[in-house]
Amino acid sequence: MKQLLLKTDSKNTPIVIGKNIINSSLLSKFINSKDVVIITNTTIGKLHLKKITSVLKKFNLNILKLPDGEQYKNINTLSKIHDYLIKMNFDRDLTIIALGGGVIGDLVGFASDTFLRGVNLIHIPTTLLAQVDSAIGGKTGVNHKFGKNLIGTFKQPNSVIIDINYLSTLPEKEFNSGLAEVIKYGIISNPKFLKWINNNSNLIIKRNSNSLLKIVEISVKEKISIVMRDEKESNIRAFLNFGHTLGHAIEASMNYKNILHGHAVSIGMIFATMLSVDKSTLNIDEFNLIESTIKKLGLPINIPSKISTSKIIKHMSFDKKNKGGKNHFVLLKSIGKCYITNKLTNSYITSMIESFRS
Ligand SMILES: NC(=O)c1ccc[n+]([C@@H]2O[C@H](COP(=O)([O-])OP(=O)(O)OC[C@H]3O[C@@H](n4cnc5c(N)ncnc54)[C@H](O)[C@@H]3O)[C@@H](O)[C@H]2O)c1
Ligand SMILES: [Zn+2]
Repeated sequence: MKQLLLKTDSKNTPIVIGKNIINSSLLSKFINSKDVVIITNTTIGKLHLKKITSVLKKFNLNILKLPDGEQYKNINTLSKIHDYLIKMNFDRDLTIIALGGGVIGDLVGFASDTFLRGVNLIHIPTTLLAQVDSAIGGKTGVNHKFGKNLIGTFKQPNSVIIDINYLSTLPEKEFNSGLAEVIKYGIISNPKFLKWINNNSNLIIKRNSNSLLKIVEISVKEKISIVMRDEKESNIRAFLNFGHTLGHAIEASMNYKNILHGHAVSIGMIFATMLSVDKSTLNIDEFNLIESTIKKLGLPINIPSKISTSKIIKHMSFDKKNKGGKNHFVLLKSIGKCYITNKLTNSYITSMIESFRS
């Protein structure tokens, strides 16, 4: 078991990583109240509530199960959580455990930041994406009818407990999608890690325990290091959006249906890598390493044929991360060295997408 510390202005968040670590003594270290509420969804509840409730017997334990799905990450569900907490008469002496993937983490993070202006929050992420990305760094939020994650806060959780055992029940495509964010850390900040992933792709795909512990731990370390230097995303935290400019536009063009986030990001990472060869100093060997790693992990590399280039360009200009109506691309000088540019014109990007697709 490893313990890392995410230090920000607001607090120090311990992040524990291990296998089979959900037990009474570990959880008790982070629970500072008699009342505890676990908030999860129906799918995860069926699979994983039994174990965690059995180790929390000494607390006044309550459970709230939400419906499963990104479509429930909205202000109505947030309101339902608030209604529940208020009706149950909880005071600030309360610990909320968010047990789930990024949807539960973002919703519950927001609810626990706003209920009585903030109560003790423990994230127990259960998807690979949540373990390496969404549970770390304190972004909370819900979607709005005009766009994803438009309403939210920065609230660092009080602690994060990452148990790779949860990954054993994760559906194949969800696991695979999470791997895109893992590769991303290698590309943007750790060339040695990227090579290691490339050389150990078989073990990773088979979800070998030691390999999972390694990819989760290194990914979390990379994310911590970025968030500690730029918590509120005024500069280098934006490097985490590598592959996301095109990725978000692909997801939006498909109405967030029939494509998982990591899969869209994977295509976006190849495209950003191609732009980096064309516009920057990234060399072809580095391009080949990135592409081969993405392929070896079984991630997609082609833009779905049913969406048009013009639709993608349209969605790129709507992206909330585009400041001043300009496209922002994270590009590479080399593997491990990023920069952001807003100098790429729509006509250049259109022609690059066209040649990428041919
Ligand atoms: N806060 C952040 O910094 C941040 C970063 C990245 C993504 N996000 C958000 O995260 C969300 C996506 O998260 P996600 O990919 O974890 O999706 P998710 O939470 O929808 O989980 C994916 C699916 O897997 C199921 N599941 C979860 N854990 C399981 C397990 N152990 N076994 C079996 N099934 C399991 C869920 O019920 C769901 O059906 C998006 O809303 C995105 O905006 C937030
Ligand atoms: Zn992402």
